Amino acid sequence: MSIVIAADHGGFELKEAIKRRLLEVGRAVVDVGCPSEAAVDYPDYAALAVAEIVSGRCRWGILICGTGIGMSIAANRHADIRAANCHNEYTTIMSREHNDANVLCLGARVLDRDEALSLVSLWLATDFTGGRHQRRVDKLTLPH
Ligand code: RB5
Repeated sequence: MSIVIAADHGGFELKEAIKRRLLEVGRAVVDVGCPSEAAVDYPDYAALAVAEIVSGRCRWGILICGTGIGMSIAANRHADIRAANCHNEYTTIMSREHNDANVLCLGARVLDRDEALSLVSLWLATDFTGGRHQRRVDKLTLPH
């Protein structure tokens, strides 16, 4: 299933590195911008990525800004999005196993490139545990 990737100017360089890595390992990637390090507003790019997911064109999203915070706030405003701002292996694994996150947010000014690439691989390889966590995730559902 395709992965949508988006960033603001703070995350542009890391977005490009993650996209290259994903393509190298054979993943289908939809890049909705931003296209350069020129300043943009992260909510605009979060919205483009969310649209790819809610339409069903992409299963997963990876959103990058300076901290990961703005992107996660913006993406989580949509009822179908569970965006997790992860900064280490533990939070990355838990975001999938317990929260069934469908969007990974990363801070390009928080993580170095290799850490971020490693967290992306880990996140994509980690399954939702289900069980009692499904009940909790069901309670997150907001009206559309
Ligand atoms: C842009 O300078 C910065 O505010 C943005 O990348 C992000 O960190 C916001 O949450």
